[in-house]
Amino acid sequence: MKFFVDTADIADIKEMADTGLLDGVTTNPSLIAKSGRDFIEVTREICSIVDGPVSAEVVALDHETMMKEAETLRKIADNVCIKVPLTIDGLKTCKKLTSDGTQVNVTLCFSANQALLAAKAGATFVSPFVGRHDDNGFDGMSLIEDIVTIYSNYGFETEVLVASIRNPVHVLQSALIGADVATMPPAVIKGLFKHILTDKGIEGFVADWEKTGQSIPTS
Ligand code: G3P
Repeated sequence: MKFFVDTADIADIKEMADTGLLDGVTTNPSLIAKSGRDFIEVTREICSIVDGPVSAEVVALDHETMMKEAETLRKIADNVCIKVPLTIDGLKTCKKLTSDGTQVNVTLCFSANQALLAAKAGATFVSPFVGRHDDNGFDGMSLIEDIVTIYSNYGFETEVLVASIRNPVHVLQSALIGADVATMPPAVIKGLFKHILTDKGIEGFVADWEKTGQSIPTS
Protein backbone atom coordinates (compact mmCIF):
# COMPACT_ATOMS: atom_id res chain seq x y z
CA MET A 1 0.00 0.00 0.00
CA LYS A 2 1.33 3.47 -0.87
CA PHE A 3 1.13 6.18 1.80
CA PHE A 4 0.40 9.75 0.66
CA VAL A 5 0.10 12.69 3.02
CA ASP A 6 -2.95 14.93 2.59
CA THR A 7 -1.66 18.42 3.30
CA ALA A 8 0.06 21.48 1.78
CA ASP A 9 1.99 22.22 4.98
CA ILE A 10 5.68 22.11 4.06
CA ALA A 11 6.93 21.36 7.59
CA ASP A 12 4.56 18.39 7.90
CA ILE A 13 5.50 17.10 4.44
CA LYS A 14 9.23 17.33 5.26
CA GLU A 15 8.68 15.49 8.56
CA MET A 16 6.76 12.69 6.82
CA ALA A 17 9.28 12.51 3.95
CA ASP A 18 12.11 12.12 6.47
CA THR A 19 10.59 8.81 7.62
CA GLY A 20 11.40 7.38 4.18
CA LEU A 21 7.88 5.92 4.11
CA LEU A 22 6.13 8.68 2.12
CA ASP A 23 5.09 7.81 -1.45
CA GLY A 24 3.30 11.01 -2.49
CA VAL A 25 1.26 14.07 -1.52
CA THR A 26 -2.32 15.15 -2.18
CA THR A 27 -3.56 18.71 -1.90
CA ASN A 28 -6.91 20.33 -2.67
CA PRO A 29 -8.13 23.95 -2.81
CA SER A 30 -9.09 23.90 0.89
CA LEU A 31 -5.65 22.62 1.93
CA ILE A 32 -3.96 25.26 -0.26
CA ALA A 33 -6.12 27.97 1.35
CA LYS A 34 -5.19 26.60 4.80
CA SER A 35 -1.49 26.80 3.92
CA GLY A 36 -1.74 30.52 3.21
CA ARG A 37 0.78 30.02 0.40
CA ASP A 38 0.74 30.79 -3.33
CA PHE A 39 -0.64 27.65 -5.05
CA ILE A 40 2.02 27.42 -7.77
CA GLU A 41 4.91 28.19 -5.42
CA VAL A 42 3.90 25.75 -2.67
CA THR A 43 3.20 23.01 -5.21
CA ARG A 44 6.66 23.56 -6.73
CA GLU A 45 8.23 23.32 -3.25
CA ILE A 46 6.28 20.14 -2.42
CA CYS A 47 7.39 18.57 -5.73
CA SER A 48 11.02 19.32 -4.79
CA ILE A 49 10.64 17.53 -1.44
CA VAL A 50 8.81 14.36 -2.59
CA ASP A 51 9.71 12.24 -5.63
CA GLY A 52 6.29 10.59 -5.84
CA PRO A 53 3.06 12.01 -7.32
CA VAL A 54 1.93 15.41 -5.99
CA SER A 55 -1.77 16.02 -6.66
CA ALA A 56 -2.59 19.61 -7.64
CA GLU A 57 -6.29 20.30 -8.25
CA VAL A 58 -7.83 22.40 -11.00
CA VAL A 59 -10.53 24.81 -9.80
CA ALA A 60 -12.39 25.43 -13.08
CA LEU A 61 -15.64 23.56 -13.65
CA ASP A 62 -15.63 23.52 -17.47
CA HIS A 63 -13.46 21.22 -19.59
CA GLU A 64 -11.84 23.95 -21.68
CA THR A 65 -10.64 25.96 -18.68
CA MET A 66 -9.65 22.80 -16.79
CA MET A 67 -7.34 21.95 -19.68
CA LYS A 68 -5.77 25.41 -19.56
CA GLU A 69 -5.27 25.21 -15.79
CA ALA A 70 -3.85 21.70 -16.12
CA GLU A 71 -1.36 22.98 -18.71
CA THR A 72 -0.11 25.52 -16.18
CA LEU A 73 0.03 23.00 -13.32
CA ARG A 74 1.82 20.22 -15.16
CA LYS A 75 4.63 22.63 -16.10
CA ILE A 76 5.45 22.99 -12.39
CA ALA A 77 7.29 19.65 -12.14
CA ASP A 78 7.38 16.17 -13.69
CA ASN A 79 5.77 14.62 -10.59
CA VAL A 80 2.68 16.83 -10.64
CA CYS A 81 -0.51 14.75 -10.82
CA ILE A 82 -3.52 16.75 -12.02
CA LYS A 83 -6.58 16.46 -9.79
CA VAL A 84 -10.01 16.84 -11.38
CA PRO A 85 -13.51 16.49 -9.87
CA LEU A 86 -15.72 13.53 -10.75
CA THR A 87 -17.96 15.35 -13.18
CA ILE A 88 -18.57 15.02 -16.94
CA ASP A 89 -16.14 17.87 -17.59
CA GLY A 90 -13.67 16.45 -15.10
CA LEU A 91 -13.67 13.05 -16.80
CA LYS A 92 -13.42 14.60 -20.29
CA THR A 93 -10.34 16.41 -19.01
CA CYS A 94 -9.04 13.21 -17.38
CA LYS A 95 -9.33 11.25 -20.63
CA LYS A 96 -7.56 13.97 -22.62
CA LEU A 97 -4.72 14.39 -20.12
CA THR A 98 -4.05 10.70 -19.53
CA SER A 99 -4.08 10.04 -23.28
CA ASP A 100 -0.90 12.11 -23.52
CA GLY A 101 0.75 10.62 -20.45
CA THR A 102 -0.21 13.07 -17.71
CA GLN A 103 -1.08 11.50 -14.36
CA VAL A 104 -4.64 12.30 -13.21
CA ASN A 105 -6.27 11.86 -9.80
CA VAL A 106 -10.09 11.94 -10.06
CA THR A 107 -11.36 13.29 -6.75
CA LEU A 108 -14.65 13.76 -4.88
CA CYS A 109 -15.75 10.20 -5.67
CA PHE A 110 -18.73 9.01 -3.59
CA SER A 111 -20.12 6.04 -5.52
CA ALA A 112 -18.85 2.89 -7.18
CA ASN A 113 -20.54 3.96 -10.42
CA GLN A 114 -18.53 7.19 -10.33
CA ALA A 115 -15.35 5.14 -9.78
CA LEU A 116 -16.30 2.92 -12.76
CA LEU A 117 -16.54 6.03 -14.94
CA ALA A 118 -13.18 7.31 -13.66
CA ALA A 119 -11.50 4.04 -14.62
CA LYS A 120 -13.11 4.15 -18.08
CA ALA A 121 -11.75 7.69 -18.42
CA GLY A 122 -8.24 6.32 -17.82
CA ALA A 123 -7.69 7.87 -14.41
CA THR A 124 -4.33 7.14 -12.80
CA PHE A 125 -5.96 7.37 -9.36
CA VAL A 126 -9.56 7.62 -8.13
CA SER A 127 -10.13 9.24 -4.71
CA PRO A 128 -13.21 7.90 -2.91
CA PHE A 129 -13.82 9.98 0.25
CA VAL A 130 -14.48 7.58 3.14
CA GLY A 131 -14.57 10.12 6.00
CA ARG A 132 -17.14 12.40 4.42
CA HIS A 133 -19.16 9.32 3.48
CA ASP A 134 -19.15 8.16 7.13
CA ASP A 135 -19.83 11.72 8.34
CA ASN A 136 -23.13 11.58 6.39
CA GLY A 137 -24.29 8.21 7.67
CA PHE A 138 -23.10 6.11 4.73
CA ASP A 139 -20.63 3.20 4.97
CA GLY A 140 -17.38 4.55 3.53
CA MET A 141 -15.56 1.25 3.68
CA SER A 142 -18.21 -0.64 1.71
CA LEU A 143 -17.66 1.92 -1.03
CA ILE A 144 -13.95 1.03 -1.09
CA GLU A 145 -14.81 -2.68 -1.13
CA ASP A 146 -17.18 -2.22 -4.10
CA ILE A 147 -14.64 -0.21 -6.08
CA VAL A 148 -11.79 -2.68 -5.49
CA THR A 149 -14.11 -5.55 -6.56
CA ILE A 150 -15.25 -3.78 -9.75
CA TYR A 151 -11.70 -2.81 -10.71
CA SER A 152 -10.56 -6.38 -10.15
CA ASN A 153 -13.50 -7.76 -12.19
CA TYR A 154 -12.40 -5.79 -15.26
CA GLY A 155 -8.64 -5.49 -14.69
CA PHE A 156 -8.74 -1.69 -14.54
CA GLU A 157 -5.30 -0.17 -13.87
CA THR A 158 -6.69 2.89 -12.07
CA GLU A 159 -5.36 2.88 -8.50
CA VAL A 160 -7.84 3.19 -5.62
CA LEU A 161 -6.54 6.13 -3.55
CA VAL A 162 -8.57 6.13 -0.32
CA ALA A 163 -9.09 9.74 0.75
CA SER A 164 -10.83 11.68 3.52
CA ILE A 165 -9.26 9.30 6.02
CA ARG A 166 -10.06 10.18 9.63
CA ASN A 167 -8.17 7.57 11.68
CA PRO A 168 -5.77 4.56 11.56
CA VAL A 169 -8.73 2.14 11.43
CA HIS A 170 -9.62 3.55 8.00
CA VAL A 171 -6.08 2.73 6.88
CA LEU A 172 -6.24 -0.80 8.31
CA GLN A 173 -9.62 -1.51 6.71
CA SER A 174 -8.46 -0.08 3.37
CA ALA A 175 -5.35 -2.30 3.46
CA LEU A 176 -7.42 -5.38 4.32
CA ILE A 177 -9.66 -4.63 1.32
CA GLY A 178 -6.62 -4.17 -0.92
CA ALA A 179 -6.81 -0.46 -1.80
CA ASP A 180 -3.67 0.77 -3.57
CA VAL A 181 -3.07 4.07 -1.77
CA ALA A 182 -4.14 5.79 1.44
CA THR A 183 -3.83 9.57 1.65
CA MET A 184 -4.11 10.88 5.16
CA PRO A 185 -3.47 13.88 7.40
CA PRO A 186 -0.03 13.89 9.09
CA ALA A 187 -1.63 13.12 12.47
CA VAL A 188 -3.12 9.88 11.12
CA ILE A 189 0.25 8.78 9.71
CA LYS A 190 1.83 9.45 13.10
CA GLY A 191 -1.02 7.51 14.73
CA LEU A 192 -0.09 4.43 12.70
CA PHE A 193 3.22 4.19 14.57
CA LYS A 194 1.62 4.43 18.03
CA HIS A 195 0.76 1.56 20.35
CA ILE A 196 0.59 1.79 24.15
CA LEU A 197 2.24 -1.63 24.54
CA THR A 198 5.18 -0.50 22.39
CA ASP A 199 5.61 2.56 24.63
CA LYS A 200 5.35 0.41 27.78
CA GLY A 201 7.78 -2.13 26.34
CA ILE A 202 10.38 0.57 25.60
CA GLU A 203 9.91 1.96 29.10
CA GLY A 204 10.59 -1.47 30.59
CA PHE A 205 13.66 -2.16 28.38
CA VAL A 206 15.19 1.25 29.22
CA ALA A 207 14.61 0.79 32.96
CA ASP A 208 16.14 -2.71 32.95
CA TRP A 209 19.07 -1.64 30.73
CA GLU A 210 19.89 1.25 33.06
CA LYS A 211 20.21 -1.28 35.93
CA THR A 212 23.08 -2.96 34.06
CA GLY A 213 25.15 0.23 34.26
CA GLN A 214 26.35 -0.52 30.74
CA SER A 215 26.30 1.56 27.56
CA ILE A 216 26.85 0.60 23.91
CA PRO A 217 30.00 2.31 22.49
CA THR A 218 29.05 4.75 19.75
CA SER A 219 32.46 5.92 18.58
O1 G3P B 1 -7.80 15.85 -0.17
C1 G3P B 1 -8.84 14.96 -0.41
C2 G3P B 1 -9.45 14.42 0.85
O2 G3P B 1 -8.51 13.62 1.53
C3 G3P B 1 -9.94 15.50 1.77
O3 G3P B 1 -10.75 14.88 2.72
O4 G3P B 1 -12.74 15.06 4.19
O5 G3P B 1 -10.45 15.51 5.11
O6 G3P B 1 -11.49 17.17 3.55
P1 G3P B 1 -11.39 15.71 3.96
